[in-house]
Amino acid sequence: MFPDSNNQNWSAEDSAETYRLEDWNAGHFSINKDGNLEIECQVNETNVRVPIMDIIKGMQDRDLFMPALIRVENILDHSLKILNEAFKNAIDNCGYQNVYRGVFPIKVNQQAQIVEEIVRFGQPYNHGLEAGSKPELIIALAMLENEDSYIVCNGYKDEEFIDLGLRAIQLGYKCFFVIETPTEVPVIIRRAQMLGVKPMLGTRIKLSTRVEGHWQKDSGDRSIFGLNSLQIIEVIDMLKEADMLDCLQLLHFHLGSQIPSIHNIRRGVQEACRYYVSMKHEGAAMQYMDVGGGLAVDYEGNQQRSLNSKNYTLDEYCSDILETIMMTLDPEEIDHPVIISESGRATAAYSSIFLFNILDVAHFDPVRQLQEPPQGSDEKLKNLREILEIINPDNLQECYNDANYYRDEIRHLFQHGQVELRERAIAENLYLEVLQNILKMAPEAGVLSEEVERLQQSLTDIYYGNFSVFQSLPDAWAINQVFPIMPVHRLNEKPTRQATIADLTCDCDGKLDHFIGDESTLALHELRDGEDYYLGTFLVGAYQETLSDLHNLFGDTNVVSIRINEDGSFEFVHEIEGDTIEDVLDYVEYDIKAMKERFRRTVERAVREEKITVKTRQQILKSFAESLTGYTYYEVD
Ligand SMILES: Cc1ncc(COP(=O)(O)O)c(C=O)c1O
Repeated sequence: MFPDSNNQNWSAEDSAETYRLEDWNAGHFSINKDGNLEIECQVNETNVRVPIMDIIKGMQDRDLFMPALIRVENILDHSLKILNEAFKNAIDNCGYQNVYRGVFPIKVNQQAQIVEEIVRFGQPYNHGLEAGSKPELIIALAMLENEDSYIVCNGYKDEEFIDLGLRAIQLGYKCFFVIETPTEVPVIIRRAQMLGVKPMLGTRIKLSTRVEGHWQKDSGDRSIFGLNSLQIIEVIDMLKEADMLDCLQLLHFHLGSQIPSIHNIRRGVQEACRYYVSMKHEGAAMQYMDVGGGLAVDYEGNQQRSLNSKNYTLDEYCSDILETIMMTLDPEEIDHPVIISESGRATAAYSSIFLFNILDVAHFDPVRQLQEPPQGSDEKLKNLREILEIINPDNLQECYNDANYYRDEIRHLFQHGQVELRERAIAENLYLEVLQNILKMAPEAGVLSEEVERLQQSLTDIYYGNFSVFQSLPDAWAINQVFPIMPVHRLNEKPTRQATIADLTCDCDGKLDHFIGDESTLALHELRDGEDYYLGTFLVGAYQETLSDLHNLFGDTNVVSIRINEDGSFEFVHEIEGDTIEDVLDYVEYDIKAMKERFRRTVERAVREEKITVKTRQQILKSFAESLTGYTYYEVD
């Protein structure tokens, strides 16, 4: 399969094209002349590039092995910068009469280093945080020092949550409660009156605008979040009665994440503006419009209105939102609100790269030395062998049918003890050889059945990766999210194999078989003896770390945060060792001490029964204790 391994004419450009690098890299990645993938960024106006292999080497020197996540602070900063600047430019260009304030939704990546960096770099932009729970509000209060940055509290709020938010206002924070349900209102009123604090309130509205994308069925009237028009009136009346309608200042909506169509966004903003106008007419002191998240990431890079892509640019997103607001509010002579957005995915996705090595490959190629049936073999084996002599482009379908028939017959005979294992192995091998011949000749053949057309797929390699889909790329499993994946080295060599990727879990879903460009296989290089082969999965900074799980007890991977300097050097600003076996056992409530003691008793019994010596006992106990402190992934000695 794909036998042409001639590298002479293969260039970095060919690799870039194969992996559609230009489509999705957003200027952050490129390939150097040595065939290594580099991270590219601007540091103080200087364009700097760092090969990912250098980072892997640096990690190995620090005993941080694969799989691992790299967070690139420069890329995170860049994403924040372009978001804020795009809104600023759009405001200037359309003459919008107010400012933009972004808030990062903590749920998108709660890792302390990410939130810290967003707060640090976001300070000049007054970039704030969105909290959807009490722990997230505590993060926001502890991290944000800039009083001009906003804290937007979404989600259901109990008294404790409300008190925390009111205390934040006392401290000078601009902390908004977005009302998700009318039942929150009496509690807010009571606690605000008790603490003598004037709350900053918003309502989350349920738009009837439906959006395309992963969460299509949860949008519109069936959305589980937000207040309908009746409930908004109920909220307004309760606040009016408490003489607190002037606290209601913000309108919030969230159409869903990863919205691929700008048309949906425009329609959503348009509908939201009507609510804004009406709430103003009702007497609310409206000043803020929070358009939620939804700004999509073009994982596929095809700029289309499809699940893993988007049909708009960041500039278009900003100007369309502002223009739509102006078109609705200007005729009503209503002041332009401060515009808030809660972009999470677009802020965090590009900054993390997930790396793993390949441990093994399953090929579906025939083995040469097994071809000949031994003397006295079953006739059917000989019949299978004969197919190879008669196969030609005109009889491919017939040969395919016959090969299936004889292969199945031999399997059947094996099950009934009439054929030996060696004969069965030869049959399977001959069968593979017939299929490979069919594949080679198919381009010259006429019409073939769908089954034959799909042969390519069933004969592709399986590359076994040292990682867990469930731990590191949960959305690839849960919502069929596609991430760009490619080797990070050997990119000046032609990738001669086509493969799907299996992870370490014993789960049929623990695989990657959907790649960008709607491909079911990925072009990869042949493994070389004694040499590691590294793949990178890109744009994984949003949601993946947070949603991960411990399937098969594969734990958190090693993580490094790097900062790239102007001179092309880089620093490991943070290193976090992945979970040990002891850690993951502890997560699922095992008592490590008790486990050690129970195992000690088992080993001691073996000594008593003279199965092992005391010396062996010591070695076994040492291995057991060492294993507990080891990495949960495949380790090379
Ligand atoms: C209320 C709210 N705001 C913001 C976001 C972040 O959305 P995104 O990551 O698409 O920017 C979400 C996520 O779905 C959300 O539920």
